[in-house]
Amino acid sequence: MSDQAKLETGGKTYEFPKLSGTCGPDVVDIRKLYAQTGQFTYDPGFTSTASCESGLTFIDGEEGVLLHRGYPIGQLAEHSSFMEVAYLLLNKELPDQSELDEFIYTITRHTMVHDQLRQFYQGFRRDAHPMAIMCGVVGALSAFYHDSTDISDPEQRKIASHRLIAKMPTIAAMAYKYAVGQPFLQPQNDLSYTGNFLRMTFGVPAEEYEVIPAVEKAMDRIFILHADHEQNASTSTVRLAGSSGANPFACTAAGIACLWGPAHGGANEAALNMLHEIGTPDKIPHYIERAKDKNDPFRLMGFGHRVYKNYDPRATVMQKTVREVFDALDVKDPVFETALQLEEIALNDDYFKEKKLFPNVDFYSGIILSAIGFPTTMFTALFALARTVGWVAQWNEMISDPGQKIGRPRQLYTGPTQRDYVSIDKR
Ligand code: SDX
Repeated sequence: MSDQAKLETGGKTYEFPKLSGTCGPDVVDIRKLYAQTGQFTYDPGFTSTASCESGLTFIDGEEGVLLHRGYPIGQLAEHSSFMEVAYLLLNKELPDQSELDEFIYTITRHTMVHDQLRQFYQGFRRDAHPMAIMCGVVGALSAFYHDSTDISDPEQRKIASHRLIAKMPTIAAMAYKYAVGQPFLQPQNDLSYTGNFLRMTFGVPAEEYEVIPAVEKAMDRIFILHADHEQNASTSTVRLAGSSGANPFACTAAGIACLWGPAHGGANEAALNMLHEIGTPDKIPHYIERAKDKNDPFRLMGFGHRVYKNYDPRATVMQKTVREVFDALDVKDPVFETALQLEEIALNDDYFKEKKLFPNVDFYSGIILSAIGFPTTMFTALFALARTVGWVAQWNEMISDPGQKIGRPRQLYTGPTQRDYVSIDKR
């Protein structure tokens, strides 16, 4: 704990302790503010509010730094794997070989879904958005695993966590297969986590599916880049839902629903749609002007971030990965050229510089996913697949905190003061 913060209000001075973390801004502990002053803080959008203490991920928005348990995202993207990052986020330390092998063995053997879960897909229209399906099917998991819902039991929390991480690729691949009218493929245990997902998505019973190593590596890196990101909107949703003691599968479904929004995880789909709408680089100035026009709701999707006020380090890795995938698949997509030129123009435009707007993780991801063969409607489902690792790790961190309590914000009430009921004949 460091020095005290002083607040003068109502003619009195109050002192509140300031707490320091291992890095990042200090916080003012205002847990006793209402009891002492009878007043609330007011912070819609939580732009200045720390909702919890966490040791999972640290972001320095000014320096463009992203650490997972202290390890920089660039190093993890370069040297690690999604399964190893999942282990790190769940268990605080990088695994040794035997720990990693055991973790992968366990996750691999939870990738099948209950056969009755397949019936849920039949209830959706074939053109249902994969995120609608993911919300429904993941929520339905809460009805299938009564042996791992006592969240006070660390062992059951661990099994539920493994089930969620393991089954998301299967559920996401099934959502894609249902949309294209192809049969579901069962997981194959001799493939990697990411290779299994690619085969379940793009494989067909009529022939063997060969995982392309460069695509598998790029996909695995994209999963790493999306794994966790402090207390973003969907993670905060999972934490708030979990704070009531709700079933972890249901909490994950709540996170999926929040991630779907275009201001959050839905931006990768929106960003590629925007790039296709812009079409050729000569149209970029028109769209830049629209993005700056307060009377025009158009925004540059994939640009800007609540926390990063320098550069999203994930976008740097993502841009590099575009080139690797394009080379591996011998793809030439003019939309990448449009994206590069849009970034260049926006980064040199005073409006974007003043508002500190630049590409975020969603700007380039759609270009890669499209090159690999995913339809835009699957992009956010892939984000949800990867972010399940972060949601589950953050949920475990919250539930295992002995001081954990239900989240219950207050408000600034601006509605009518008390008044008496008026019968309808007198209105
Ligand atoms: C993700 O929180 C996370 O960590 C999220 C995420 C994760 O990993 O979980 O990083 C994933 O969600 C990335 C963000 C993806 N969203 C988009 O790309 C959608 C486009 N971006 C914006 O909607 C916006 O930038 C947000 C939502 C990302 C951030 O919004 P803020 O912090 O609430 O900022 P704001 O909306 O108040 O904007 C500040 C100013 C405004 O202008 P003024 O009112 O001050 O005049 O910047 C402008 C905005 O109009 N602005 C943009 C813009 N984003 C903000 N103008 C044009 N284009 C944009 N993209």
